[in-house]
Amino acid sequence: MDQYAVTVLPDQRLDDEKQIAFAGLYGPLEVAPPVRSQDGGPAASRRIRHREIFDVSNLDEQGNILDLSDQRRAYSQGNQLWHTDSSFRQKSATWSMLHARIIPPDGGDTDFADTRAAYDALPEATKLKLEGLIAEHSIWHSRAQLGGYTPTEEERKARPPARHPVVRRHPGSGRNALYIASHASHIIGWSVEEGRALLEELLAFATQPRFVYTHKWRPSDLVIWDNRCTLHRATPFESRAQIRDMRRTTVIDTRVETMAS
Ligand SMILES: [Fe+2]
Repeated sequence: MDQYAVTVLPDQRLDDEKQIAFAGLYGPLEVAPPVRSQDGGPAASRRIRHREIFDVSNLDEQGNILDLSDQRRAYSQGNQLWHTDSSFRQKSATWSMLHARIIPPDGGDTDFADTRAAYDALPEATKLKLEGLIAEHSIWHSRAQLGGYTPTEEERKARPPARHPVVRRHPGSGRNALYIASHASHIIGWSVEEGRALLEELLAFATQPRFVYTHKWRPSDLVIWDNRCTLHRATPFESRAQIRDMRRTTVIDTRVETMAS
């Protein structure tokens, strides 16, 4: 994991309990936020009982394909933007593990980009410019883009923004990594426009094909990635007719964040 940052384990016959137990070997696990009901009202019941499992599917609590108007559909659209999981939390994530239960016949791939390789390839002048910069990340920034999910006041309060260095030292490899995402809205101490322009430029640079691996899923694949040094995004599929049922467990980063040096 420290060398490659993405690991594919095929043919893993896991149920939710086993996936939670396996992920839990690597640290404390994040718990999923409450689910909003179809009309955006109070929390709906969950399809998956365990809160350590993030429901990465297009299914409602009864197991039916979500209505086009369902807010959960708008929310999950944001996964098609380049991001790293949980950068919007102050205690962000180390590894995510995504298990494929049901995959659509076409599309629904996951693209991964290596942000250490991207950092290494940056011009020296850009590396100097990035020294000491801090970005603000918010789940609501990325959700406002694709799909246009509008959070309630309660949701906003429950998930406030977080701040992280734009370049961080990846502990396992000792290499510097860009820590950016579609969750990042601006750079602290810069004008919003200037900061956003820099973040967009970095995101475009880091996701060039030469830094990207595309994973084509097979049922029962378990893919593990390191959120500290990668970006990822889902690719579209026919989500009105096909089922994609993926389940994610996410390990919380309990170490103190290390800025590049
Ligand atoms: Fe993700």
